[in-house]
Amino acid sequence: MTPKTFKIKSFGCQMNVYDGERMAELLGATGMSAASDGDDADLVVLNTCHIREKAAEKAYSDVGRLRREDGSKPLIALAGCVAQAEGAEAKRRSALIDIVVGPQAYHRLPELVTEASRGARPVDTDMPAISKFDALPDRRRANPSAFLTVQEGCDKFCTYCVVPYTRGAEISRPWSDIVHEAEALVDGGAREIVLLGQNVNAWKDGRRGLAELIRAIAEIDGLQRIRYTTSHPADMTDELIAAHADVDKLMPYLHLPVQSGSNRILKAMNRSHTVETYLLTIEKMRAARADIALSGDFIVGFPGETEEDFLATLRIVDEVGYASAYSFKYSPRPGTPAATMEDQIQREIMDDRLQRLQARINDHQLAFNRSKVGCETQVLIERKGRQDGQMIGRSPWLQSIHVETAARPGEIVDVAIVAGGPNSMAGVERRKPVLNFVEGVAA
Ligand code: SAH
Ligand code: SF4
Ligand code: F3S
Repeated sequence: MTPKTFKIKSFGCQMNVYDGERMAELLGATGMSAASDGDDADLVVLNTCHIREKAAEKAYSDVGRLRREDGSKPLIALAGCVAQAEGAEAKRRSALIDIVVGPQAYHRLPELVTEASRGARPVDTDMPAISKFDALPDRRRANPSAFLTVQEGCDKFCTYCVVPYTRGAEISRPWSDIVHEAEALVDGGAREIVLLGQNVNAWKDGRRGLAELIRAIAEIDGLQRIRYTTSHPADMTDELIAAHADVDKLMPYLHLPVQSGSNRILKAMNRSHTVETYLLTIEKMRAARADIALSGDFIVGFPGETEEDFLATLRIVDEVGYASAYSFKYSPRPGTPAATMEDQIQREIMDDRLQRLQARINDHQLAFNRSKVGCETQVLIERKGRQDGQMIGRSPWLQSIHVETAARPGEIVDVAIVAGGPNSMAGVERRKPVLNFVEGVAA
């Protein structure tokens, strides 16, 4: 039976979220519609992530849960990075899986669905040279903050990481395709565009790099904000740093994962930057844009990490004073060099280090949020809040801000920040000058 409704569940990074949206558009273009919440879909796409822990096992148990009480099941497509890593093996491990489709092959999803509804169990984990993007329908509707993948894959081969294997070699989408997609997103309602890539700052088209691309996108009328993520410290160019000084639409936020504060561990991770080169980049960035909010990723318990190495990580957290940061316990990934390194760290030690690191990061996060109390800033409204009249949006530095306002999603409101908690801020809308005047008279 040909499916009429679909549901896509995306896990993992923002690029998977982007891929999920594009798969939905693709299926929509074939006449299928998204199943409403709570309704059984005829087709379920599990868009998986393989970055940490028992990703494959989790994916199989998620598949198992799709079996319905009456014994029937939807058509099931395993997509994303677990699909890429497992390939045809996925069909052997679970008889419930009908389609296996990798992150570089999902433009073929409609054909694969047709094949599967005729009883076949197709697998497509090719990484074709021809860009899948050419085969995707144009963008029509967009959230106030929209993702746009500009670069995919990774050639860095950090010794702990699966991405170079699941997403393939680094490729940059062509300049004109990206500008065209950005314009379509803005036409479709986007006010902010987040340029995405596993190494987004390695994006290039001929001689042009990400800084030029940002400057070009900033020219689009109606677009108010630009962000990009994730950047690799080794690809942080002076041009990109300079863009933060003079492109108003480029938001004062940079996610720049350092992973560890110990040069010995960075070397074993094959990170190609040192603590010193990283801190120099941060210094230049702050010189260009003093209020930049910095964010990062950390791994604790990489093989061979000593207490001293870990203390160096706490030091770099203090030195940079991150506005936010993500931290993870090292997770051995099959097929990566670090998985077979000697001196794997015991789980209890990792737990302890993660706790200490997260406490330190939280301190800085809270300090950053509190430091903004009293500031006047702008919030891009994204959605309704829990309370009546309350809306939730983002600050320029990417925190969630609650504010009482009549503004709708996609509008930007001026606020004064009145409170800063560990994970969000509260703002009060600044009234228009005429209202202030009337209040002034009344008072
Ligand atoms: N390309 C980006 C993001 C990669 S994945 C970058 O280079 O920064 C996101 C984060 O997951 C990484 O920054 C890293 O901190 C974490 N990560 C990747 N592999 C991991 C592993 N095997 N164990 C624990 N954390 C991992
Ligand atoms: Fe993974 Fe390193 Fe590439 Fe980031 S730069 S995706 S951590 S291999
Ligand atoms: Fe996960 Fe693949 Fe993204 S492994 S983090 S979904 S690139």
